[in-house]
Amino acid sequence: MILVVESVPNLIDLVQRNKENGVSIGFVPTMGALHKGHLSLVRKAKKENDLVIVSIFVNPTQFNDKKDLEKYPRTLESDISLLLTARADVVFTPASSEIYPEGDQKGNDIDLGGLDSYMEGAFRPGHFKGVAQVVKRLLDIVTPDRLYMGQKDFQQFTIIAHMIRTLKIQTDLVVCRILREANGLAMSSRNERLTKETREKAGIIYKTLQSVKKYQNTKSVKELEDYGMKRLNIAPFIPEYFTICDGNTLKPIQNINDTSYAVACVAVWGDGIRLIDNIILKK
Ligand code: PAF
Repeated sequence: MILVVESVPNLIDLVQRNKENGVSIGFVPTMGALHKGHLSLVRKAKKENDLVIVSIFVNPTQFNDKKDLEKYPRTLESDISLLLTARADVVFTPASSEIYPEGDQKGNDIDLGGLDSYMEGAFRPGHFKGVAQVVKRLLDIVTPDRLYMGQKDFQQFTIIAHMIRTLKIQTDLVVCRILREANGLAMSSRNERLTKETREKAGIIYKTLQSVKKYQNTKSVKELEDYGMKRLNIAPFIPEYFTICDGNTLKPIQNINDTSYAVACVAVWGDGIRLIDNIILKK
């Protein structure tokens, strides 16, 4: 059985009752259009907590492109059946007015320590302000013991980790590994919008990341980044950035030896859809 809760007071009530009984809570925030990647977060949360709450809320404030927001897949019924199979306990499906009762500008000013100035943040102005705003609001409502996020959105989880630290939010962030399709393409709700052909060809993104990892000790960062951009500049793809950065500060690095935690992050357009992926080079 799975409980669908739409209102904030009802969810707060449910959380309160469970906490009074010593029930631990795992929380997986999503925007729906669920795939196996999301379900792996739910399954991990289920192993580590008594009660698992999944939110499905397509957050308008994190879309810098209105068309992307309109086109974002909304598949509530199939999402709920998938969550049943992954044994989630509660699905929280609030309306925008529940999340932003005072309008969606409120709470849009969380300090992100400059972590939003690179990569995704540079190409999607305001995106991470919206992500931090909604995750903070959701954490205030759900007050989970553990929060589950995927490694695919590397910059996102790094920014949320920073927010949790600086605002002293009482929750443990658990980052889960990237799930991939058979050809290596990182699972994403956006993959559904690719043509079959582009989806097959998109395996090149992960192959490129793997090659960069392989050559990290024999080539300079600049050479690796240029190689990444060049290899992904093949129809129907247009690479947006290929950046090797420090995994903690997200600052681009000049030399792999400048850090003990190096990550290669990439964004690529295909069929008008933006795909992102990353690989940890060393940690
Ligand atoms: O990764 C996502 O799906 C969203 O950015 C999140 C974390 C659910 C916030 O809306």
